[in-house]
Amino acid sequence: MLNKNCKSSYQETQNLTRECKLKSSKRSAVNPFLVMDVMQEASELEKQGNSIIHMEIGQPNSGAPIDALNQLYNKSLQDNLGYSSALGLPKLREKISDLYKKRYKLFIDPKRIVVTSGSSAAFVLAFTAFFDPGDKVLIGEPGYPSYKNIIKSLSLISEICSTSIENRFQLTEDSILKSTANGVLVASPANPTGVSLTREELNSLIKSAKKRKMTFISDEIYHGLNFNGQDFSALEFDEDVIVINSFSKYFSLTGWRLGWIVVPPTFTRIIEKLAQNLFICPANASQNLGFFVLNSSANFDEKVQQYRKNKDILMDHLPKLGFINIVKPDGAFYIYADISQFKLESVDLVREILEKTGVAITPGNDFDSLRGHKTVRFSFACSTNEVKEAMRRLSSWYKLYINS
Ligand SMILES: Cc1ncc(COP(=O)(O)O)c(C=O)c1O
Repeated sequence: MLNKNCKSSYQETQNLTRECKLKSSKRSAVNPFLVMDVMQEASELEKQGNSIIHMEIGQPNSGAPIDALNQLYNKSLQDNLGYSSALGLPKLREKISDLYKKRYKLFIDPKRIVVTSGSSAAFVLAFTAFFDPGDKVLIGEPGYPSYKNIIKSLSLISEICSTSIENRFQLTEDSILKSTANGVLVASPANPTGVSLTREELNSLIKSAKKRKMTFISDEIYHGLNFNGQDFSALEFDEDVIVINSFSKYFSLTGWRLGWIVVPPTFTRIIEKLAQNLFICPANASQNLGFFVLNSSANFDEKVQQYRKNKDILMDHLPKLGFINIVKPDGAFYIYADISQFKLESVDLVREILEKTGVAITPGNDFDSLRGHKTVRFSFACSTNEVKEAMRRLSSWYKLYINS
């Protein structure tokens, strides 16, 4: 159950088990993902026969294209899919390099591309390769919660900058120039807002980081899911930046755990040694699937059209239902909203909405330690019919709520 103190149900059940004398490390004291608690509660309600609309989790509702799955099946009949090189399968690294040509008209030497187990493993590699314990990394809030949790678990320190709605919840040149951190991490489009940096903004953040001798890390995992046309990669502006990307979102391969990192050429060997020791290699089957997906005839852009439609429906309805101060998302599949017009705090509001309407959304506490108790995130990676039905249910609930 979600509770006001934001303890997860998992934590609570752990407290009921016998006392253990082993000491846990300070760096392991990271926050749980509240979104997982919402998911668990939603699936319990679903098991009891309730109709649930999942708008809590940032995951596409489709899987790998069938042609790619068939090719993987055939491959697995001929190949034992054992360990690969720690850097990833050369054919996949080349294909990812081709993606940079296609998407950004950029030549990225495949030698600079390291395949990872999702972008999550790429963050571990980047933070380990570029920082020492005690180093600081500047991140903006609201932001993807794992950033600060990975940073803490590696004995680094996050320097958190509370971004403003006026700056569309993105870091600014000024926030970098004032920072004392060793590195900075930006995401565009970002989670939980879906907001992108413009070409000029990204370029100026990179320049400011360079001026301050800060390592610049760009999380580009929502690239491809863009409602305004083009995405800009940090690699267009500077060779000495670190870019992290993933097959999870645009290519819908969340559970296959496949991502990549692009590093300056001299860092490939450093990352390789870390990857060998930390992970051996990403799953070979997933790497092959990634290769087949990049060759697939599937039209991934169809999903973008669906997300755009979902976004428009939400942007039309949510402000009329008390969800305010929304910055229009440029991409990804999220809307972040202020709930200060409601008396309830986000954890309680999310529970109330789940119980009364069956619509599962995420409390903002995951994304913003200061202001998240007054915000929520809607994920619109579900179908358009589900989004329409969610708005119908929320409208009925809201009429009763404001009159209660
Ligand atoms: C901004 C952002 N970065 C990174 C990740 C991690 O994704 P994965 O490890 O599946 O590539 C997520 C997941 O939702 C995310 O939202």
